[in-house]
Amino acid sequence: MGELERVSGLPLTNFRDEHVDEQVARACRRLDVDDPASLARVLRADAGERRRFRRSIAISHTAMSRDPHQFALLEHELLPRLLAGGARVSAWSAGCSDGSELYSLALLLERLGALERALLLGSDLLEENLALAQVGAIDGVTDSVRARVRFEQRDLVTDGPPPGRWRLVLCRNVAIYMGPGARQRLYRNLVAALARRGVLLLGRSERLVDPGAFGLRAIAPHAYERVDG
Ligand SMILES: C[S@@+](CC[C@H](N)C(=O)[O-])C[C@H]1O[C@@H](n2cnc3c(N)ncnc32)[C@H](O)[C@@H]1O
Repeated sequence: MGELERVSGLPLTNFRDEHVDEQVARACRRLDVDDPASLARVLRADAGERRRFRRSIAISHTAMSRDPHQFALLEHELLPRLLAGGARVSAWSAGCSDGSELYSLALLLERLGALERALLLGSDLLEENLALAQVGAIDGVTDSVRARVRFEQRDLVTDGPPPGRWRLVLCRNVAIYMGPGARQRLYRNLVAALARRGVLLLGRSERLVDPGAFGLRAIAPHAYERVDG
């Protein structure tokens, strides 16, 4: 797998073993090769296949306002709490894919009249996703919305959190593809990015077994508030 890791440029050991094995087996079948070493040779020679393999490992599926009940939670509970008293909100979409999650949040903040008080950052592992995010060719996204968002490349496991303390961190549908060790490092990095009383929102199939161990407390389904720090 070491050679595949080098060729793909992805930290394969951070992903769940079964997920990587499945994607490697699929790619081997599709390209009619017998083993990971042969697959690595094909990927080295073929940029298109390399991109396809990277996308299959770092699943990039996303959508505007994905899981609408979570956006309803943001609109009716989490954002009112964070914006109370005219406060500014800094929000980080960790594992932002093509930016749909961050743009959905920006449009929601605009609807709430709070976009001007927001600092919005998206980060992802794949440059190809960030290139799409930077363009922001999404229905309803105007230049003034685009001007409020910023995107950067970051490995959430090994690079650590971005500088600053964030009042809202969205990390949805990222941890599910990680192995247990990488997932613990990811959660530690997300918590380190949170301001005191800042809110972390995970995906609808993700939860922390022991939020207290991270200095968090549950405040809504899949949503946690930082109580220390
Ligand atoms: C399934 S998408 C989720 C996108 C969005 N958060 C959502 O829920 O719609 C997972 C994203 O996490 C990114 N990702 C996976 N591992 C990562 C890592 N170690 N560091 C940063 N991003 C990562 C992938 O590139 C992909 O864009």
